[in-house]
Amino acid sequence: MTIQEIYNLAINKGIEADFRGRDAVEKLLQRKKDKYEKLSEKEKEEFDLESLKNPYSDTRILHIAEDKEIKKILIGVDIEPAEVLLAKEIGGVDLIISHHPLGKGLANLHEVMGMQCDILSKEGVPINIAEGLMKERISEVARGVNGANHQRTVDAAKLLGLNLACFHTVCDNLAANLLKEEIHKANPERVEELIEILKEIPEYKEALKIGAGPKIFVGNKENRCGKIVVTEITGGTEGSPKLYEKMADAGIGTVIGMHMSEEHKKEAEAANINVIIAGHMSSDSLGMNLFLDELEKQGIEIVPCSGLIRVSRN
Ligand SMILES: [Fe+2]
Repeated sequence: MTIQEIYNLAINKGIEADFRGRDAVEKLLQRKKDKYEKLSEKEKEEFDLESLKNPYSDTRILHIAEDKEIKKILIGVDIEPAEVLLAKEIGGVDLIISHHPLGKGLANLHEVMGMQCDILSKEGVPINIAEGLMKERISEVARGVNGANHQRTVDAAKLLGLNLACFHTVCDNLAANLLKEEIHKANPERVEELIEILKEIPEYKEALKIGAGPKIFVGNKENRCGKIVVTEITGGTEGSPKLYEKMADAGIGTVIGMHMSEEHKKEAEAANINVIIAGHMSSDSLGMNLFLDELEKQGIEIVPCSGLIRVSRN
C-alpha cells in the first residue's frame, strides 16, 4: 500500500466507526465545502483543503520523504524525535505513524472536538447545551496547543528522510465503537461487572500487569451503572467539566473514559455520575490495533513502540 492508501483507509475506517454515522459526517463535509466555495481567493489560499475530504483535523500525512510501497511501519502512541531516530536505527522503516497528533494535526486538534456535541446529543444532552458548553472548552484547547513546538518531530523526520503521519481520532473512533459494542452485549448492572468486562479486553488485561488497568475514578464497585455511555474515548481530548451535571439530567449514570483531570472528576462526583477510566495507553492501543489489523492483513510489518500494546486480532 502507498502512504495515501493507508491514510484513505484510516479515514474510511474512522468514519465507519464514527458515532455520528456516515451520513452525518458526509453532511458536515458538504457544509464545509459550501462554506469554502463562498470564501474569497485570499481566504481559499489559507484554507486547509484536506479538511474538505477528511473530517478529522488530528489525522494527517505530515511528511512524505519518499512515496514508496509501505512494507514496514514503526508506530507508537507518542512519536518524538527519539522515535524517529529509533526508526533510523532499526532500519527498513517505510513509514512512522504517531497516534497523538503532531504538526498541523496538533495545531488543529481542537477542530475535531465538535463531534463530542453530536455524540452527547445522541445520548440525550440537548445539542444547544452541548454546543454552548463545548464552545468554551474548544477555544481553551485551541489556546493550549497554540504554543506547542508543533513541527519538532516533523522536522526530525524531514532531516532523516523518513515518512511521517499521525492518526488520532480515526483510531479512537474504533476503540469507542468496540467498547460500546462489548458493553451493550454484556449489559452490566453494577460497576464491578463493568470493570470485569473491560478486563477481558486484551489491551486492558496487559495494562493491568503494569498497574495501568481500568480504574473507578468516581463511584464504587457496588454502584448500579444506570445508563452507560462511551462519550470520552473519542473526540480529540477531554470535553467541558460543566457537562456532567447536564449528562446526569439527561439520564446518564456511568461514563467510560481514557483519562480524566481532577477538575472533571470533581464535577462528575458532584453530579453522581460513576466514572470508569479504562486507561490511556491501553485505550489508545485498542483503537490503533483495530486499524493495524487491517494493515497487517495487507502484509505490512508492524513495529510497535512508545506505549503501544500491540495485540493482533487477525
Ligand atoms: Fe491519547
